[in-house]
Amino acid sequence: MALSSKVMFMNLKTIISIILVAFIAIGFLGCHPKGVGPMGPNGQRLAWKEMSIEQRKVHMGSVVLPRAAALFRSWRPERFAEVNCTLCHGQGAKTENFKMPTAHLPRLSGELLLGPEFEAHPDTTRLKLDRLVPIMSEALGLKSFSVITRTGFGCYSCHLGPTGPMFGN
Ligand code: HEC
Ligand code: HEC
Repeated sequence: MALSSKVMFMNLKTIISIILVAFIAIGFLGCHPKGVGPMGPNGQRLAWKEMSIEQRKVHMGSVVLPRAAALFRSWRPERFAEVNCTLCHGQGAKTENFKMPTAHLPRLSGELLLGPEFEAHPDTTRLKLDRLVPIMSEALGLKSFSVITRTGFGCYSCHLGPTGPMFGN
């Protein structure tokens, strides 16, 4: 009897935790993904994931590239005077390989709190975290990366980790 009520208690605790986690997850995901693309069949703007490859290319060219280019240019005007799709996609952009994250960009440490990145490249890490990630998430209608859920658009949406893609990318 004592054992079975203990088991039931555990189950109840498990169930409560699952419900709590579900509520937190809904809270986090609440208003994402956002419709950022052209109108879909139901009269609502398409979310990034719902767009075709052609629609994604157009969106990259008209929304993502101009915003990212402006940020990189304001940071290092000479180096980023002219940027195009190869900034992020590398030579893949010329052969229609737009897969991200990409080996074209330097691999990052995989550390959740970016310790090694802050140590080796403080200014670019700050810029990316405070400006690039929010600009990109907004442009794509995606939630920014959260260290709690370990999901969302962040560094590893563009960069690989030491052994490959990380955090569900
Ligand atoms: C500032 C960086 C950046 C630039 C510049 C950029 N892209 Fe992207 N692109 C991304 C990222 C990040 C993703 C992946 C988004 C996701 O799904 O998380 C992506 C995804 C894509 C995809 C979808 C690939 C797939 O398999 O779903 C296409 C197509 C694409 N880009 C085309 C372009 C084109 C064309 C240009 C130039 C006009 C361009 N991109 C410029 C960052 C960039
Ligand atoms: C939208 C794509 C994208 C995202 C998101 C992104 N980066 Fe980058 N990252 C780039 C590009 C493009 C470069 C190459 C240009 C440069 O040197 O900054 C780069 C370069 C770097 C470099 C190398 C800098 C150097 O001088 O060698 C580091 C370190 C870096 N990123 C860290 C980060 C960190 C940390 C995050 C998350 C906070 C992040 N990146 C998010 C696109 C991205």
